[in-house]
Amino acid sequence: MPNIPWIVVEDFKSPGGWVSPAQREAHARAYCKLLESGQILFFRDLPYVFPHEEREFLVSQEWAELRLHKNISYRPKEDVLRGVTGDSAVTGRVHSILRTYTSRVLDFAEKFLSPYARKWIVDYASFRPFEEERRGLPLHKRNDLLHVDAFPSRPTHGGRILRIFTNLNPSKARVWNVAVDFEQIALHCGQDAGLGRMAEESPFSRTMHGWAEKLGFRGANRTPYDMFMLRFHDSLKENAEFQKNWPRTQMEFPPLGTWLVFTDGVAHAVVSGQYAIEQTLLIPPEALVAPQHAPYRILEGIAGRPLVS
Ligand code: SIN
Ligand code: FE
Repeated sequence: MPNIPWIVVEDFKSPGGWVSPAQREAHARAYCKLLESGQILFFRDLPYVFPHEEREFLVSQEWAELRLHKNISYRPKEDVLRGVTGDSAVTGRVHSILRTYTSRVLDFAEKFLSPYARKWIVDYASFRPFEEERRGLPLHKRNDLLHVDAFPSRPTHGGRILRIFTNLNPSKARVWNVAVDFEQIALHCGQDAGLGRMAEESPFSRTMHGWAEKLGFRGANRTPYDMFMLRFHDSLKENAEFQKNWPRTQMEFPPLGTWLVFTDGVAHAVVSGQYAIEQTLLIPPEALVAPQHAPYRILEGIAGRPLVS
């Protein structure tokens, strides 16, 4: 029986924050460490402000699935909303709700995960309005297959992908499967995904990537680690034996439950659920409190070579 990889946080609550402020530094660091080692941190209720009328507005619209966009996304750096078409009053309201959502989640994360505060790159937020069960996406886009996350357009160079999810469904749980041991999965499935080959990429081709980056080619600044993680994401979804047999734990996140997880290290799949909202933060290697658990370090250990320099 695998360990249940979820810890319920009870010493930090909205709106006051830390229940015992004297210990906040030590507690924040301990939680970062737990996250980095593959635990999911779970709040039974919202740990940040999210007014009822804003949540209600998001879940009560008729959302049309668009071919180009898997979810509705918000890019805080450019203040751009993607994936909503039609009525400009609705688009404007969604945009403003997501903008405020991002700023409130950042306020929360600055306190709760203070060792990372302002060292992170604020990545996209997304609202996920479609029922995930039997969604019928193309294989590599399917979220109901176990995978670790990697983004083609945002290589992390060894930095980690932290995601903060809330289930906005007023009555139904969001159900996930998770498999926590990144090292075991990498040992079992990493060679199939080309770990050896990518680790052996020559210094010459690394220099070529550097030039392509200066010339502005998309994704050209990927390190061997980034290339491997993209391939690993696809390869795990393609691997029928892994999907069928790898031990997993099913977790149910109830309405308004909020959970934090490093999705580059914890393999996950969404089994069912509708209406989740999520903010992604990229945590650079220098900000990690337990870098030995970072996927790039584990993969370097297996490959016996540096993957990010
Ligand atoms: C994911 O697979 O990264 C997202 C899962 C979800 O939407 O719950
Ligand atoms: Fe994912």
